Amino acid sequence: MSKETYDDQNLFEAESGMQEQANLATRANFSGRLGFVLATAGSAVGLGNIWRFPYLAASYGGGAFVVVYIILAVTFGYTVMISETAIGRYTRKSVIGAYNSLTNSKFFRAGSWITALIPLLILPYYSVIGGWVCKYFVDYLIHPASHAAGDTYFNDFIGTAASSELWFLVFAVLTIIIILGGVQSGVERASKFMMPLLIIIAVILAIYAVTRPGAMEGVKYLFIPHLEDFSIMTVVAAMGQMFYSLSLAMGILFTYGSYMKKNVNIEKASYQVVAMDTSVALLAAIIIIPSVFAFYGGEPEVLSAGPSLMFITIPKVFASMGLGRLAGAAFFLLVLFAALTSSISLAETCISTFEDELHWNRRRASVVLFVIMIGLGTLSSLGYNVLGNVTVMGLAFLDFFDFLTNSVMMPIAALFCCMIIIKVTGFKLISDEIKLSSNFRTENVYRVVIKYLAPIFLVVILVSSVLNTLGIITM
Ligand code: PFF
Repeated sequence: MSKETYDDQNLFEAESGMQEQANLATRANFSGRLGFVLATAGSAVGLGNIWRFPYLAASYGGGAFVVVYIILAVTFGYTVMISETAIGRYTRKSVIGAYNSLTNSKFFRAGSWITALIPLLILPYYSVIGGWVCKYFVDYLIHPASHAAGDTYFNDFIGTAASSELWFLVFAVLTIIIILGGVQSGVERASKFMMPLLIIIAVILAIYAVTRPGAMEGVKYLFIPHLEDFSIMTVVAAMGQMFYSLSLAMGILFTYGSYMKKNVNIEKASYQVVAMDTSVALLAAIIIIPSVFAFYGGEPEVLSAGPSLMFITIPKVFASMGLGRLAGAAFFLLVLFAALTSSISLAETCISTFEDELHWNRRRASVVLFVIMIGLGTLSSLGYNVLGNVTVMGLAFLDFFDFLTNSVMMPIAALFCCMIIIKVTGFKLISDEIKLSSNFRTENVYRVVIKYLAPIFLVVILVSSVLNTLGIITM
């Protein structure tokens, strides 16, 4: 390096070091790569991995779905993940502030509001389901495995307003307590504690599940791809699941990126998150599908039963097996950890938006968030009992919020993210940010994905999932 270049380089490093220090002095941050990886993987690994991935894999042909999913996650998912993280780290803002500091266009401002609203709409109904998980975990601790396995057990539970609301409140309070602890002592510490335990429990349960008699048929179904099972819908379903599972397009990664130090390697951290998220999804499928095969002989309608798979079918499987109570308690503890680390990431994203845009302190932001959670969550929780007759577009409240966020708002938010890179920042800003801590060998692939593949896929997901919900096509 010539002396001049060397001096320039030193000056740049000194300046960016000073700027980094100033930023870090005012903004909360993760302690290092491990903190970021475990918190982001905690966000990604959630109900989506344990409940949604296995039933989608089962409905879309097992092996064919798994292969398509993995390819999409390491290419497409990874690309969107590094983009959001890089923009967050560059601007040191949550999504609204990030877009505002990049452009003053009203169009993009609208996009940032849509993105910021997503976690606020998801968190309440996610906490209602989190409450169901708490209830089942406690059930297995104090009752025999047969208790939760009755035919009407689940529907009786959610059909009773008081019990459903009570467990929802328990989960919401747990989330807010962690959030009040702050970024390092709350979010990061909770993720560092729960994520390793979650993985250990998942591995033990997976070994137990595949060693049950008859379970091997399920493992084969899951891992051997059959070409005849492949259709364009396999890709569409895998793509939607990938967005859901990696917590993309809902502002979370902008916020977590804004807490990331400049010396943390974005590429490596993101690959680790994708690897952890995909591994837990596969472990969950290995726990659930072979168990259901062993118990029900792999009836397709049982495997693709959707939400009821986790709360109705799986308890029956536990009740029928040796050590069922222990397996049940361990399984629901695993799901509880997964749900909590995700709910705190949704909550943290809302809090950082309140802090950045409204200049509220953390305590005030947490109180307001809690009130919104209780209000909207109560609609979802009562939607299966007292408000059972009220529907929006023919859907119960919980299903409506799920549809609105996942099928409509998230593809739109992801399109905005691609557009801001193509039209406003250009690729250079993103690649410079990534190159601060790695050499970004995949830059060319990255450009092609963001410019061409992502927009096409996103429009396909948006249109097909809306048509599917309206009953115009069946997926
Ligand atoms: N990625 C998490 C999961 O798979 O459960 C968190 C999450 C994603 C929550 C999407 C809600 C959601 F709509």
